[in-house]
Amino acid sequence: MRAPAKINVYLGVGKVRDDGFHPLETVYQAVSLYDDVTVTSAEEWSVTTMVGGPHVDHLAIPDDATNIAIRAGKALAAHHGIDRAASIEVNKNIPVAGGMAGGSADAAATLVALDRLWALETPDEDLLAIAAELGSDVPFALVGGTATGTGRGEIVTPLEDNGSWWWVVIFNEEGLSTPSVYGAYDLLEEGDHDYRIRPEMLDALRSPQPSGLDVFLYNDLETAAFYLRPDLERTAEAALECGAIMTLLSGSGPTMLAFANDAEDARLIASRLGGRGYERTAVVHGPVAGAHVVAYQ
Ligand code: C5P
Repeated sequence: MRAPAKINVYLGVGKVRDDGFHPLETVYQAVSLYDDVTVTSAEEWSVTTMVGGPHVDHLAIPDDATNIAIRAGKALAAHHGIDRAASIEVNKNIPVAGGMAGGSADAAATLVALDRLWALETPDEDLLAIAAELGSDVPFALVGGTATGTGRGEIVTPLEDNGSWWWVVIFNEEGLSTPSVYGAYDLLEEGDHDYRIRPEMLDALRSPQPSGLDVFLYNDLETAAFYLRPDLERTAEAALECGAIMTLLSGSGPTMLAFANDAEDARLIASRLGGRGYERTAVVHGPVAGAHVVAYQ
């Protein structure tokens, strides 16, 4: 199975809820950076991670039952009341703790892979419910494309999206923990604000030209992430100087995104960024499909 990284082209965050999560209104987009997950029936649960991309820190990934791929497999088995295990191999390209939902992609891919391997034929709504229990971003990794996310991000509604959007992903050496960014957001945020998706943004997404979208690209967590990691603001400035139409924090960061006109522009921006010392970049496009089968043996 192959599952995509996600970005949030819009991320509006409300005041923290009683359960510790924040209400969100977000527009997700699945982009062409993938983790591949292979599952094989086994006596015991295990997970092995191979580094597929240069921007992945191998050491940061747990290889025990705390790994979200194993938690996904166990949750699926428990849902069906079956006592089975599998060995899970993850070929990682999505950065760890990067704000691109790499762990969520692995969980989504594992759910669909084991559902196929064990011929469980789990209804989609059950898979989505199991995914939501695993993490706020996991349902979107199943759905892919472009979609709104509400609730804490787990309620996913696909959007009509006719365009193809090009981005330069600027990786960061060091991960940033999602709870710490939300914590900083709580400290810095003053009063209520309207964090809802504006209808004009959905209109811009429906247009085949990406030209309207740059007006709406926005992430409520950016101030908090810049507060914790001032280097990110400099990265954004550098990307603008290298020709980005706009920059955006990816999810809770620290990955930064540069929005480009087209593929050629994106490659040019990436190459200029390389000349300025930002060598760890990738040119991606979206929307792409959610978790899907790529090989079966
Ligand atoms: O759902 P997930 O496991 O990805 O969330 C990780 C952490 O991120 C949560 O424990 C919480 O601190 C924070 N979070 C949040 N509001 C959300 C999603 C995540 O505060 N909507």
